[in-house]
Amino acid sequence: MSARILDGAAIGKTIREEVASEVARLSGNGRKPGLAAVLVGEDPASAVYVRSKGKACEEAGMHSVTLRLPADTSESELLSTVDRLNADASIHGILVQLPLPRHIDSEKVLRRIDPGKDVDGFHPVNVGKLVTGDKSAFRPATPYGVQQMLIRSGIETKGAHAVIVGRSNIVGKPMANLLIQQGPGGDATVTVCHSRTRDLPTVTRQADILVAAIGKAEFVTADMVRPGAVVIDVGINRVDDPARPRGYRLVGDVAYEPVAQIASAITPVPGGVGPMTIAMLLQNTLQAMKQADLD
Ligand code: GUN
Repeated sequence: MSARILDGAAIGKTIREEVASEVARLSGNGRKPGLAAVLVGEDPASAVYVRSKGKACEEAGMHSVTLRLPADTSESELLSTVDRLNADASIHGILVQLPLPRHIDSEKVLRRIDPGKDVDGFHPVNVGKLVTGDKSAFRPATPYGVQQMLIRSGIETKGAHAVIVGRSNIVGKPMANLLIQQGPGGDATVTVCHSRTRDLPTVTRQADILVAAIGKAEFVTADMVRPGAVVIDVGINRVDDPARPRGYRLVGDVAYEPVAQIASAITPVPGGVGPMTIAMLLQNTLQAMKQADLD
């Protein structure tokens, strides 16, 4: 068997087009959603993410601001930047790119973002809303994108056993919370595995839907996957490859070739979950503006 490839680039494009037509409709009423991205330092991967977010915003007809601050920006300077964006009526969504330099307390910065503008969904208010099933929660873009991909690919989550490998605040934990909610893309039985899980392959082999989000290149091997499972690869890792012009290639957390032989569906890297993340961030920014209008 060879797995169906879940095309995140195509699904993400559809979502971005849906957002763009809603933005066009609202701009007729003089309303335009605005997203501010703040990048501290020059981490190349973060710079790539932030650039593509800005480009996607503009393509969707949204207002986009990117603030690039030097790596030695102090915590209090960054907090003042967040305060200014909180008070700026043209900005509906604020995203502070992670990871931040080590001298800055990320939790403190994330808590400073107005929860109504927290389109990453990392503020404790939004985390709490997500856990309790409050519809006004901002859902973190990557797991939200995974959920949309499952829904739009016709993959049934209701009653399925979803096993998530990785317990980060950005992906693993919110992914679990989304999949156990009632309703479309939810109603799953969820297991969250991590570095201390005993006999990991025995657990992952029980998955109908396996989500790999540990940040380790090609960690999930074919012996860890039940034949016929749906495999979602959230990882994006650089591995040295002298044959490539840039000297590296991108691989996911899943050993793609062997796993694609036995899975029923799989996401590629790149072109799988990555494009979904950006699409959901735009969706969240639109949601932020609509919710702000109701306040
Ligand atoms: N770094 C890696 N993923 C993300 C994300 O979804 N949001 C932010 N702000 N930083 C990230």
